[in-house]
Amino acid sequence: MVERAPFLNAAYSAYHHRGLPAEDQEMTRVGPDTPCGEYLRRFWQPVIVASELGDLPKRLKILGEDLVVFRDKSGAIGVVEPYCPHRGTSLEYGLIEERGIRCCYHGWLFDVDGRILETPGEPADSTLKDRLCHGAYPAHEHAGLVFAYMGPPEKKPPFPIFDTYDIPGYQLVARAPTLWDCNWLQVKENSMDPAHVAFLHTLPGSEGFSEDFKELAEWDWMETPVGMVYIDTRRYDDKVWVRVADFMLPNIHQFPPNMDPVSLRNTINRPQATTWAVPLDDTHTMQIGYYRAPEGKDPQRGTVFGQDGLRPYEERQRIPGDWDAQVSIHDGMSRHGLEHLASTDRGVIMMRNMIRRGIRAVSAGEDLDYRILTNGAAVPTYSHDRVIPGIAPAATKEADRQLLRDVARDVVAKTVKNGLEGG
Ligand code: FES
Ligand SMILES: [Fe+2]
Repeated sequence: MVERAPFLNAAYSAYHHRGLPAEDQEMTRVGPDTPCGEYLRRFWQPVIVASELGDLPKRLKILGEDLVVFRDKSGAIGVVEPYCPHRGTSLEYGLIEERGIRCCYHGWLFDVDGRILETPGEPADSTLKDRLCHGAYPAHEHAGLVFAYMGPPEKKPPFPIFDTYDIPGYQLVARAPTLWDCNWLQVKENSMDPAHVAFLHTLPGSEGFSEDFKELAEWDWMETPVGMVYIDTRRYDDKVWVRVADFMLPNIHQFPPNMDPVSLRNTINRPQATTWAVPLDDTHTMQIGYYRAPEGKDPQRGTVFGQDGLRPYEERQRIPGDWDAQVSIHDGMSRHGLEHLASTDRGVIMMRNMIRRGIRAVSAGEDLDYRILTNGAAVPTYSHDRVIPGIAPAATKEADRQLLRDVARDVVAKTVKNGLEGG
């Protein structure tokens, strides 16, 4: 149970805000041996854009663990502990070889899987290298991103391929990561919070969303086989615009295009991005993933408005973006006991419950229900938008709101059952 702060119900009552509740550690701590950290380690996580791996090793922190990532000259990728098992020199100063990485201090050579290939200073008959291994994690490269699996070796799941990786007419482009100075959960919760779009992203001077988003929508949420979706529905005369965004467990989201005006939306649009919120540690998060660009068109590159803290402070105060809204939540570490959740937060509540169930399953020693893995076939996801014509408004505003929700839920239910084309 989350401990709650007093519900202040009088003016000028800040004095009574005493004994403030702590953070929700079960969901926010990500280091080794923490419940959430162990849960997130059961999934492949993107750790770096593959093009970053050149002739030098890279030092990273992922899930509170220091790592060195490198690509050897044969092309194999290693994700290893930084400190050499001999006397602890960091392999970020190592020499990349045809096979593996060599510690700069006394020349021990490590393969990408941690096996020790050479201990050149030791006698020729030394068996040390055959008995000892360096710490390493499995790596997998896909479409310009390097993923690592940091969980128990015997629990390693297959690498999931989502159906949005290969959409005819579109190219998948790895995006440069953005760094968020806050806990991962508050970043991820934003993906199931469509209400913020109508406010934060339509502030004067804000960029990135079409004018259509200014109007408040009907908001709804549904579970899917891979996680959940939000459904954002608006009416234009006898047309209904349904916009569906995915949250895929444990830390992935996809959302449809933001910029096209609704008048141009005549087809089913699949998501423009697939994004992971990867915790670097408890209070730093990397958003990394893919953009999807029409073939032949320059993929979106560079920073999207409001997605980093690099703008001057005063400018961010005048036109805040996602980064400012999310990072500033309780100064980087959300305190759920200080919140007053309202009707627009139903998606956030669903998401927390879903993640908490996974965390508790792992803590209880249960195997995860990897519904996102379908024996090598592409994993269906549900994010898209479409405009449905010929739906006359109901007699009253309230009845019409219900009609919009029903139409939209029906679209999502059919999409989950029959796939997008049959949805
Ligand atoms: S510390 Fe790495 S080889 Fe000695
Ligand atoms: Fe946003």
